[in-house]
Amino acid sequence: MPRIGTQETRPVDSRRHFIGRAGLAALAAGLAPRPGAAQAADNLPPAVPAWTRSQGEAVNWRPYGLPADFEKGVVKIKRPSPLPTEGVSLTPLQHLHGTITPSGVVFERSHGGTPLIDPQQHRVMLHGLVKRPLLFTMDDLVRFPSQTRIHFLECSGNTSRDWRSPVSKTVQESHGLLSCCEWTGVALSTLLEEAGVQPGAAWVLAEGADASGTSRSIPLAKCLDDVLVVYAQNGEMLRPEQGYPVRLFVPGWEGNVSIKWLRRIKVGDAPFMTRQETARYTDLMPDGIAREFTWFMEAKSVITYPSGGHELRGPGFYEVSGLAWSGAGRIRRVDVSVDAGRTWRQAQLQEPVLTRALTRFRFPWRWDGAPTVLQSRAIDESGYVQPTRAQLVQLRGYNSRYHNNAIQSWGIAAGGKVSNVQV
Ligand code: CO
Repeated sequence: MPRIGTQETRPVDSRRHFIGRAGLAALAAGLAPRPGAAQAADNLPPAVPAWTRSQGEAVNWRPYGLPADFEKGVVKIKRPSPLPTEGVSLTPLQHLHGTITPSGVVFERSHGGTPLIDPQQHRVMLHGLVKRPLLFTMDDLVRFPSQTRIHFLECSGNTSRDWRSPVSKTVQESHGLLSCCEWTGVALSTLLEEAGVQPGAAWVLAEGADASGTSRSIPLAKCLDDVLVVYAQNGEMLRPEQGYPVRLFVPGWEGNVSIKWLRRIKVGDAPFMTRQETARYTDLMPDGIAREFTWFMEAKSVITYPSGGHELRGPGFYEVSGLAWSGAGRIRRVDVSVDAGRTWRQAQLQEPVLTRALTRFRFPWRWDGAPTVLQSRAIDESGYVQPTRAQLVQLRGYNSRYHNNAIQSWGIAAGGKVSNVQV
């Protein structure tokens, strides 16, 4: 039988048929022992565990459900920044399964904090090169024909800190500006059709209602293709930090253009050259010229188990698992290397593989106990292959901070410790 995970099979101890001393004391006091308290052995088979010996919490004890207390380590972490309202919080990818990010741990990027907006007072203005300028209430927006789609959201600064050296300790620190949710809203094309786009229109400005007034220009063609004005996420209204009550969602593009707390859409004939697309979110190349309007999140993948901070418990079977995604469409294939990139073998992809969404891959691996390096490489339906770090640096140098989609390496030490390395 393969050894899986961290817990070895324990032999049944026939001396523990009965409720132990701590259990008896608790029963005498009319209380169920606290899970995890000192009498843990009494909760193991063949004993009847404490939580079976009494009624549980009342039905609907929490009218809005929460994770189990034992999972309280599964949280976002905020990266240190000078202001509490500016910066990022990171998704705990090492603790997540499947492909959907629970709303409570979706990463944040904010430039002016989270505004607490009253949806009754909120309006979205649509103006500029349109025949009929419009002002939408939330009721208006929800009344339009709706769409639901699953897409990833990734900040173009994801993995930026590891460009020169592997400073991130965990996959949460290195790749945590990445989430994937089910998004529901109205197609921006529907709203533009309602307003009537004038001849000469080519660009659209989207502006947020937060204190930073974050705004970006998007080509009209993309807006007419698959951009959504989103009010719901994973089946419920957006969380405040995710743009409540309404945000833009631009599938496959850097997260910064999916303007949260959307208040204004302006149609124009040229890009608006806002701060967020000139002073920020440009890519400085080795020759000192900055690339502008680099929107696409190119194909990328990362192994989330095992990853930095994990510790393998000896040689044996492990299921290597991770996530792959591409702003250009579907993931076609993921390759895994268990020998620092010398040889590659194809991983299994979890179906359904959706366009511009996280795809879970899995790879069975038997570790012989020797030090090695694990890597994954994504290939998308356009044929694009995720680059090695050396290839990325050769193309883009070291000035760049955005769009680091290089292959990630996790080093496995002889004792089983997993750490962030570069090869
Ligand atoms: Co960019």
